[in-house]
Amino acid sequence: MAVFNPFVPSYKSNPYRQYSRLRADDPVHRSQALGAWVLTRYADCLAVLRDQAAFSSDARNARGPVADAIDEQRRGSPLGRTPTVLTSDPPDHTRLRGIVTRAFTPRRVAELRPHIEEIARDLLADAPAGEFELMAGLAQPLPVIVIAELLGVPSEDRARFKEWSNAIAATTNVVTREDEALAARQATEQLVEYFGRVVSQRRREPREDLISALVTAEEDGQRLSEREVLAFAILLLVAGNETTTNLIGNGTLALLEQPEQAQRLRDDPSRLAGGIEEMLRYDSPVQGVVRFATRDVEVGGRLVSKGDIVLAMLGAANRDPEQFPEPDTLDVAREDVRHLSFGMGIHFCLGAPLARLEAQVAFGVLLERFPHLQLGEGGRERGGTFLLRGPSRLSLAGGQDRDALD
Ligand code: HEM
Repeated sequence: MAVFNPFVPSYKSNPYRQYSRLRADDPVHRSQALGAWVLTRYADCLAVLRDQAAFSSDARNARGPVADAIDEQRRGSPLGRTPTVLTSDPPDHTRLRGIVTRAFTPRRVAELRPHIEEIARDLLADAPAGEFELMAGLAQPLPVIVIAELLGVPSEDRARFKEWSNAIAATTNVVTREDEALAARQATEQLVEYFGRVVSQRRREPREDLISALVTAEEDGQRLSEREVLAFAILLLVAGNETTTNLIGNGTLALLEQPEQAQRLRDDPSRLAGGIEEMLRYDSPVQGVVRFATRDVEVGGRLVSKGDIVLAMLGAANRDPEQFPEPDTLDVAREDVRHLSFGMGIHFCLGAPLARLEAQVAFGVLLERFPHLQLGEGGRERGGTFLLRGPSRLSLAGGQDRDALD
């Protein structure tokens, strides 16, 4: 009988072996341990993501013990059950998403490139010619600084943002321990207080930033409630951080394992944008998304009952041989990489253009500063949670002095 066991340490180091076995033996798997359906085929994941009417993002549609636990957690949260884009269905979702969509269009985001390059170069400016710890040195601070600036809060507060956002991200694990749930609740309380102050200031004096846009937004004559503004600001801070950090970390790990691919990117920088899509496919920062069945519905030949929890494993879909030939090989020149790492359908990642740009900038400077990119003596360590995958430490060597480049 097929099993799915994300509790074993080998899952953290390499979940793809388990996905591959499951996809072959039981692609629409009912996991007793998780109390959820686990989907590992590309076609099934795509079908679920595209059908928001049958597969809701709102946990109030869930039934059973896991659903009760989710509800309990939400009730204990300072923002209660305030909907966000991520956790709502239309019409709430449409209203909320409409408000900030304009801030994240590819064109608006492209205007940020020179500034993001400046931030990345500044971060690398102090990097020693010898060993460089990528996660603390670049992958973590870059997205935090960028989103803080977009929101309009001082990026000097980034150590606190990182702490808060880590505490909240920890709740994306298979099981959330009591102490982790408490830490996440406290982090949310502190974020509510922090953003609460900023929101009052912007109400008095709006500026050209995202928080002002949230405060002054009118969609169909309806303003966002105070709680919705706070929940949105917190979501933007958290959603864009861990994920982009993990893309930079996972992509670099993949290039370390296959240095010839790094060389191909150096030889032809026009491949970089496509190469980043392949990195996203190869080792997805978000391994899975959760949905709740709103009615009895068939998935890949199995009957999913109303209220069931469905996990669409994006990391597994991205390695489905039916969709991607030789899925376990990183090929930066792969064409038509239609990965699911940013999701699909109405919840498709709002920050995708920004994440792509940050990754292009990060890999651009990295490949330039590290002509002989290799693993440093400090080594590497896998971090992340069940749903978020990325290294916690990644030491690099093979760099060149900045002076040698100037
Ligand atoms: C490599 C980096 C990123 C990855 C892999 C990623 C992944 C995802 C995925 C898979 C979803 C869909 C969730 C679902 O369907 O339930 C999503 C949604 C979302 N992402 Fe990202 N994300 C990244 C970066 C960002 C950034 C930089 C921001 C914002 C600054 C952001 C903001 C959001 C928001 C607001 C949503 C919810 C959209 C909706 O539900 O309509 N993300 N992201």
